[in-house]
Amino acid sequence: VVNGDETDSATAAAPEPTLIKDGELSVCTDMPYEPFEFERKNGEAAGFDVDLVRKVADRLGVQLRMVDTAFDDIASGDSLNKGECDLAISAMTITGERARVLNFSSPYFDAAQAMVVAQGSGITSLDDLAGQKIGVQGGTTGELYVTDNAPDDAEVVPFEDAAAMEAAMEKGDVVATVYDNTVVGDVVEADPDLEVAAEFDTGEQYGMAVRRNGNVELLQVVNDVLAELKKDGGYDEIYATWFGQ
Ligand code: ARG
Repeated sequence: VVNGDETDSATAAAPEPTLIKDGELSVCTDMPYEPFEFERKNGEAAGFDVDLVRKVADRLGVQLRMVDTAFDDIASGDSLNKGECDLAISAMTITGERARVLNFSSPYFDAAQAMVVAQGSGITSLDDLAGQKIGVQGGTTGELYVTDNAPDDAEVVPFEDAAAMEAAMEKGDVVATVYDNTVVGDVVEADPDLEVAAEFDTGEQYGMAVRRNGNVELLQVVNDVLAELKKDGGYDEIYATWFGQ
């Protein structure tokens, strides 16, 4: 049952989204990418994205199921187009290339790229990394940015997820890592031996996504919920939970 207590006639008349499994909104996400999505010790998914997408499940009156999925499979469209999830939310940047294989919602968060290095390394820009190894998450806009902007003889090393990037940094396998600027605060908080060395103003925006050909009804609900949360303060509340005031 959708919109059981919805009185707005325009919304009430909208066709009901079809979900893969009745009574459940399944959502692909790649964890960890703290504070957007990560797993608590008890196995529960948590984070800004999880709180945001829970509002969509609430609106639909269904259970939320987060499905941990390799980021590459999300951004390439594979997981959605193979029917593994109804929706994806993964701190995923809206790009023209991805919009050919996914249907994006309206944007919900601004982002850029940022570089993390060891405290006191003296590295302050990509130009300082000639001949060095730079860790990125495979398939991300960070990987693209570094590939395009690092010195030619720097080695860009793609990792499966953010946890693997951090482990490589700790072992000294890479001298720098590049993530979205929205997560590096948590990265350096978790490891005080690290610091944020630079930010790169890439002008990115995150969107949720549904599969390429279809589920426009679900996308409409997502966009309605986003617009309402921005108006009624719900968005600010979730923001304050994960980023402070
Ligand atoms: N915003 C970047 C991108 O879209 C990185 C996203 C990584 N997300 C994640 N959950 N690991 O490429």
